[in-house]
Amino acid sequence: MNFELLTLDLAGAAKQPSDALIVLLPDGFKPGKDALSALVAQALKAGDLDTKAGKLLALYRPAQTKAPRVLLVGVGDGTVRQVRQAVGAALGALRSGGPALKKLALCFAAAPQAGALRAAVQTVADSSYVYTTTKSKAEGRSLARVTLGVPKAAALQAEFAQATAAVAGIELAKEWANRPANHATPSHLADAARALAKFPKISCQVLGPREVAKLKMGSFMAVAQGSEQPLRFIVLQYQGAPKSQAPTVLVGKGITFDTGGISIKPAAEMDEMKFDMGGAASVLGVFRALGELKPAVNVVGLIPSCENMPDGRAIKPGDVVTSMSGQTIEILNTDAEGRLILCDALSYAERFKPAAVVDIATLTGACVIALGAVRSGLFSTDDALAQRLLTAGEAAQDLAWRMPLDEEYAEGLKSNFADVANVAGRAGGAITAAKFLQRFAGKFPWAHLDIAGTAWKSGAAKGSTGRPVGLLLEFLLVQAQGGPRARKA
Ligand code: BES
Ligand code: MN
Ligand code: ZN
Repeated sequence: MNFELLTLDLAGAAKQPSDALIVLLPDGFKPGKDALSALVAQALKAGDLDTKAGKLLALYRPAQTKAPRVLLVGVGDGTVRQVRQAVGAALGALRSGGPALKKLALCFAAAPQAGALRAAVQTVADSSYVYTTTKSKAEGRSLARVTLGVPKAAALQAEFAQATAAVAGIELAKEWANRPANHATPSHLADAARALAKFPKISCQVLGPREVAKLKMGSFMAVAQGSEQPLRFIVLQYQGAPKSQAPTVLVGKGITFDTGGISIKPAAEMDEMKFDMGGAASVLGVFRALGELKPAVNVVGLIPSCENMPDGRAIKPGDVVTSMSGQTIEILNTDAEGRLILCDALSYAERFKPAAVVDIATLTGACVIALGAVRSGLFSTDDALAQRLLTAGEAAQDLAWRMPLDEEYAEGLKSNFADVANVAGRAGGAITAAKFLQRFAGKFPWAHLDIAGTAWKSGAAKGSTGRPVGLLLEFLLVQAQGGPRARKA
């Protein structure tokens, strides 16, 4: 899909050749003198058009307008949230009837607020996305060209570039999370990561079972040992700033299928556990966007990837393994495998002397219960880091919510047979999982995003959301612009 940004007023918008034109109208909009503005003025005066966010008025072949279908859409105060809502409503209406759109024009009648253009671009991309990889007669996305019109395009070029790069990253993340586990093995993920090294400033290294054994990642290896698919440990590096600048490390959970192992999951909806590499997919997506935008930051992406399977060789409840950190772990539940692969990746992260480490994981069903599909769970030992991530989430409309890490929550992780157990009781399950990870993240500022509820949609619209690529990208770009976290070289 191809996006372009043009300077257009309503007269210019009317001249755009397209299958449909969406005009976003904020409260208090003052129409000009052209034919389309005249229609807007009349409709407003008659009370047939309301500028409340998401209110629609559909026109067919209005005079002097090239697009056959025109939607006048209210955006209220024009906040990012309202623009997202309005564009979503407009696209829903266009989809509900008429021929499939190939070319869309979308115009802001007044200058958009910061972030609103990006929200519009991402909403268009999100609602037109179609997964095709494993369909025999692939009918892909019909929408091929999107023209965005704003009163002054020059001022919005940077935001536009960020928006289209974010879309590319989000769609890469969706693609990998949507692929069935037999089409997205650890080796396939490694190939996808290697393919990203074709972008300038990105390099990729892939470790296999032998190298991982040498590193003594006994916890990660324990999860992988029940599968016929060999594990992969993926190391991506993006160098956009001088080497002297400490990198931000992103660690993505890459379980390409989670059966639960010997602590096997129930059959219902188990298919959805192919998205248990959603954290890994978001890391790939972020690198895709970095490769395009080339911001002045250093980023390392670490992806421990394997399957969690029941097998004659699989780990058993009660097994004790030794992690790369040297800490021994009693595996009381083999379905709490995410933390077992992440802990070794966190230990590996130490070698980069990171400015910060953020892990991203579809870690717990408990987080889905706590926060649903709206906000990702954010855990951090560093208030400033937590704040930057929350702010980035707000700006990108990819929301998170901070959760506690009080020491009392670690009580249940005590073990009679090892340094730590991999599960505590049912209560506070998202938090006890984070407390487990925290034991391996003592050497750097650390944050953990539990995306179990936000990376995936269940039900009729089943599929990946591409979250939290938007949040992470915004977080890194603020850093690159010398935002709150600019570090001296
Ligand atoms: N991948 C799951 C978490 C999950 C559950 C993600 C539902 C998305 C939707 C994770 O590996 C898991 O199985 N966690 C267990 C932990 C428990 C055994 C302590 C869980 O949440 O039930
Ligand atoms: Mn599990
Ligand atoms: Zn899992």
